[in-house]
Amino acid sequence: MSYKINTTLIIGLGLIGGSLAKVLRHNRQFGQIIGFDRDSDETQLGVESGVIDSAATSLPDAVSIADLIILAVPVKAMENVLTDIAPFISEETLITDVGSTKANVVAAAHRVFGTIPTGFVPGHPIAGSEKSGVAAADETLFEQHKVILTPLAESSSAAVTILTSMWQSTGAEVLVMEIDKHDEVLAATSHLPHMLAFSLVDTLAQEQDNNTDIFRYAAGGFRDFTRIAGSDPTMWHDICLANKDALLTQLDRFTTGLANLRTAIECSDSETMLGTFTRARAAREHFSRILSGTAYSQDMSDKQVTFRAQPGGSVSGKIRVPGDKSISHRSIMLGSLADGVTEVTGFLEGEDSLATLQSFRDMGVVIEGPNDGEVTIYGVGLNGLKEPPGPLYVGNSGTSMRLLSGLLAAQAFDTELTGDASLTKRPMGRVADPLRLMGAEIETAENGRPPLKIKGGQALSGIHYDMPMASAQVKSCLLLAGLYADGETSVTEPAPTRDHTERMLTGFGYPVKQNGSTAAVSAGGQLHASRIDVPADISSATFFMVAAAIAPGSDLTLEHVGINPTRIGIINILRLMGADLELLNEREVGGEPVADIHIRYAPLKGIHIPEDQVPLAIDEFPALFVAAACAEGTTVVSGAEELRVKESDRIQAMVDGLKTLGVDIEGTPDGAIIKGGPMGGGVIESHDDHRIAMSFCVASLRATDTITINECANVATSFPGFVELAQTAGIKVEKEEG
Ligand code: S3P
Repeated sequence: MSYKINTTLIIGLGLIGGSLAKVLRHNRQFGQIIGFDRDSDETQLGVESGVIDSAATSLPDAVSIADLIILAVPVKAMENVLTDIAPFISEETLITDVGSTKANVVAAAHRVFGTIPTGFVPGHPIAGSEKSGVAAADETLFEQHKVILTPLAESSSAAVTILTSMWQSTGAEVLVMEIDKHDEVLAATSHLPHMLAFSLVDTLAQEQDNNTDIFRYAAGGFRDFTRIAGSDPTMWHDICLANKDALLTQLDRFTTGLANLRTAIECSDSETMLGTFTRARAAREHFSRILSGTAYSQDMSDKQVTFRAQPGGSVSGKIRVPGDKSISHRSIMLGSLADGVTEVTGFLEGEDSLATLQSFRDMGVVIEGPNDGEVTIYGVGLNGLKEPPGPLYVGNSGTSMRLLSGLLAAQAFDTELTGDASLTKRPMGRVADPLRLMGAEIETAENGRPPLKIKGGQALSGIHYDMPMASAQVKSCLLLAGLYADGETSVTEPAPTRDHTERMLTGFGYPVKQNGSTAAVSAGGQLHASRIDVPADISSATFFMVAAAIAPGSDLTLEHVGINPTRIGIINILRLMGADLELLNEREVGGEPVADIHIRYAPLKGIHIPEDQVPLAIDEFPALFVAAACAEGTTVVSGAEELRVKESDRIQAMVDGLKTLGVDIEGTPDGAIIKGGPMGGGVIESHDDHRIAMSFCVASLRATDTITINECANVATSFPGFVELAQTAGIKVEKEEG
């Protein structure tokens, strides 16, 4: 079915209907705009003020000629209006509505139509103000607001496409959602706050003696909080009834939360009070960052960020990249489980480590910050975590999910771990299987994928585990479970992997036995709060090391970089390729070796990357592929099959991307063969993988044309401020958000 819109009929010229009419009339993409309102004065005003082209005198006539009908009437009136228009619509008519609840509108449509017309796509613009009527129509009302479409099984995709473009033409961002989900989300984020505002103002207004004073002295907080109590009472009455069940559930949750806070205040329970306030404050920041400013989406990949890098240039100066991701995760975990207060500096304020931080807040730990990398964790002891209020959402972070699963398997309460679309494709059997051997009860989705449902109250027993793959996440997961398991838990790794967990446990005073490639812990110990200075992340520094190594004229110093021997594969490999790289000012900070890395351009040569270096540089391969593409001769990567199960299939993503730039590269099951040579420009898909995005940005230094990299929002998971720092160093990259 293809739709052609010559006439749009808007039924209901209130604030939403009027505003939509005004934009559509202005942008002229949806034909003549006819308005209808049961109040003929409003319709008349609509014509006089130029909101609509013309007024419908008879609804049946207007419906018969309309190609697109927008129902902008109160939700309660929807069924009557649908009944009035049903006899006059044709198969080609597109119909949508703007009601703020959806299940009841769809139920009404079912009653009226029997079979839902394919042109019907319910919608809901999340915009409004306390004003009402056509006189308040505002062309900018929808700009940068969200509009949710809830297509039905019967809705045609062509109808969804047209309505999407209609809303986009108003400056709105369109999201698609299931009906029930829409009603549940709106009950929590819109309907509940309106109830609170109405109820608060009403309660205060009923204070007989001094209500005038209360309102006279009401400060900004009161005004901000109660602004929405100025909204239309009839409309809200109708919304409450239309979304009754979902709203009642949210009201009950809120009432329980408020009662808990009341008790905390009554008992001067500072921990609960501070916990509630810091968690709430952080959750607000966390959600606006992780959910890209919206509570309606759980996926960063919804946010479109594109990098555009111009060819050429070099890098120079002294820079410090953000804190180490692996150490940041562990600082929150061990700090939370310690007795006493742990102070962290240099914490990575990236979405991955913030996801871990939020998870512990959700489990009742009071954590202040992060503030310029400083975090204060009020440890609750090994047995002090509390049941979280809902699933723990860890976004894109495999480390959070895998390490947490070990800890959670040993708790007294049930938990569920969920993540974004990319994480949901990654294998979790590698942690669930050995944890089950320890006695854990874990349910995964098909093929061991997330979400993980972990049953609490299981008695774990120590095991010895020979890891089939070199994975620090699996090792750490089992060691963390081992803190609670009966007897000894030991893990042998097939090749050395990062040992931050072992080092930090030791730093917190928890005994770890290290015997060759086997690490072991036993239950019964205690973690003592500590200070942690997180060094700069060598994995983030890698992008700049490779940048300097491939771009003639470069001379760069990276400050305070962690050079833990289990992480320095990149330094070893770049040196083998001929890079001019020196370590300055080597020192030890809080149990981790640190240095400044000075690197100058020198021509690279292709090598066969020694397989024993692969686990020591596992996150660095996307950038190393770029280095190899700029080297003279052939580079062979092998023994790196783990790259296929990272945030993306990194072998495939790099092979595809480099081929786009004209590089001679061939993928193999466990690596690639890369021939150095000239690189052109092109459009690269990063597959929402932060390291793929940053690697191609670095490639621009040696490219001959512009490189455009799609899906770069996830760079914020590990490297907030990457683009700005890259620009400072000399890379000609711009970020575009849309
Ligand atoms: C990490 C271990 C590595 C690495 C990841 C962080 C950690 O994963 O790729 O970015 O912090 O333990 P694997 O254990 O899957 O190799």
